[in-house]
Amino acid sequence: MPDATMTKEQSISREQLVELLNEDLAREYQAVIAYVVYSQVLKGAEYMNIAKELEKHAGEELQHALIISKHIDYLGGMPTVKPLPVVQSEDAVTMLRADLENENNTIRAYRDRVRQCEALGEYAIAEDVREILRQEQEHQIDLATALGIDVPDVSKPGKASNPGKKRR
Ligand SMILES: [Fe+2]
Ligand SMILES: [Fe+2]
Repeated sequence: MPDATMTKEQSISREQLVELLNEDLAREYQAVIAYVVYSQVLKGAEYMNIAKELEKHAGEELQHALIISKHIDYLGGMPTVKPLPVVQSEDAVTMLRADLENENNTIRAYRDRVRQCEALGEYAIAEDVREILRQEQEHQIDLATALGIDVPDVSKPGKASNPGKKRR
């Protein structure tokens, strides 16, 4: 019997889940590209620590892409080959803000995905997405810390672009 409290967003078909996971995969590719490029382009003594972190993020995002691709294939879909567009800049703050905004969007999407996978009884996919989500939140904290701002609250819809308050 369908749960009356279940929102429309949470009760989706397997085909819709494949589409949404492909959007997640496009976002993971975007993250791989951004972290590969930004970790090498970031200049300045004050950014050396975060540049090393971004290099680590690049590898983690690649692992996420592999896991999401595996589940798309398992669900009978074809993993996309198209990344979302990546901001190009030589300005450190522009790069870090672009990464943070991407992570905010990613976290919001994966929170939805966990609920949607569970609603479909796909508990193993939900479990893997939870572990990815945990790492994305660490990425978000690393970036907010490097920017000297509070970690953005992404729990409310439509606030993904909120870059977070400046810390006093
Ligand atoms: Fe990721
Ligand atoms: Fe991430």
